[in-house]
Amino acid sequence: MEQERKLSSQTTGKERVLSGIQPSGELHLGNYFGAIQQHLQLQHEYPGECYFFIANYHAMTTTRDRELLHKRTLDAALDYLALGLDPEKATFFRQSDVPEVCELAWFLATVTPVSLLEKGVSYKEKVQRGIPASAGLLTYPLLMAADILIYQATLVPVGEDQVQHIEFTRDMAGFFNNAYGKGETLLRLPVARFSPGKKVPGLDGQKMSKSYGNTIGIFEEGKPLQKKVMGIKTASIPLGEPLDPDNDTVFALYRLVASPEETAEMRERYLEGAIGFGQAKKELLAKLDEHFAEARERRRKLAENLDRVEEILVEGAKRARKLARETLERCRDAVGIP
Ligand code: TYM
Repeated sequence: MEQERKLSSQTTGKERVLSGIQPSGELHLGNYFGAIQQHLQLQHEYPGECYFFIANYHAMTTTRDRELLHKRTLDAALDYLALGLDPEKATFFRQSDVPEVCELAWFLATVTPVSLLEKGVSYKEKVQRGIPASAGLLTYPLLMAADILIYQATLVPVGEDQVQHIEFTRDMAGFFNNAYGKGETLLRLPVARFSPGKKVPGLDGQKMSKSYGNTIGIFEEGKPLQKKVMGIKTASIPLGEPLDPDNDTVFALYRLVASPEETAEMRERYLEGAIGFGQAKKELLAKLDEHFAEARERRRKLAENLDRVEEILVEGAKRARKLARETLERCRDAVGIP
């Protein structure tokens, strides 16, 4: 009965969408097709209920350069707005403009076993790659959970690599509700949402990631873009032989920018051996140029008006902070902190 009541209060509330991106490097096609593209769609599906932010606190776990962090945060904001984020429909802000998340992260830390954090796949991977194993890196999921829970988000549109973080978030919300909720849902349990590009491959066929150095930047164009696309690693198969569309990075990227009809046609050409990788890469390049042409133009214009970008972020933070304070006040009261 108790359980039923909890569940229904979680599901009857309105959907609220939230997601973040770390400004830890140039935003790439993995970020776009895995996350940003669905963010842009969702702002129309749930106008007024979308919260998107630039996770600059999180980026501190890997970036220790004042100017760089500042620049990348601004670049990420420019990217998002140029790609079509509408500040009238979605609340767009910098994570650090809502410092309340750090307090909620602390509350979550007090109910979360260390053993849970030690299971973090992303933590282990990063340490293996030589990123310093700071307490911040280990407790990264606590801050991410706080990001989601403080806004009482229900839907978190992310790429597949964030699944464990969302599971941790649900666990942490459960620990906190059990410890302090007295049958009430203090923190709502979110679910992850994926797009068709939930795992976008990079130039070498591994997951596209800043840390693997295999990315294509969303706003790369001209020669540098051409060089990257033509350099995508492919199998060595003689011209005229059939190609396997399901095991090929060029095709995997092509289907993200082409229409379903164009994709079906390209699949046929692969299977019939009617196209070589060189030609497929050229067609991918043309599609990428077409897909991002407007956004590139908008970005150039926006870059001339950085005051407006700052204004949007500040305005977004005001809205986000109001919501965050409401949750935090309830949680403070529940734990016995005035
Ligand atoms: P980050 O900055 O690594 O990536 C941002 C988003 O891009 C997605 N993504 C990909 N999707 C498909 N294929 C790829 N190759 C690929 N590479 C990246 C990620 O899944 C993500 O959705 N921890 C988060 C940032 C964060 C956050 C949050 C997200 C902080 N707080 C709260 C959601 C909710 C991260 O590091 O994303």
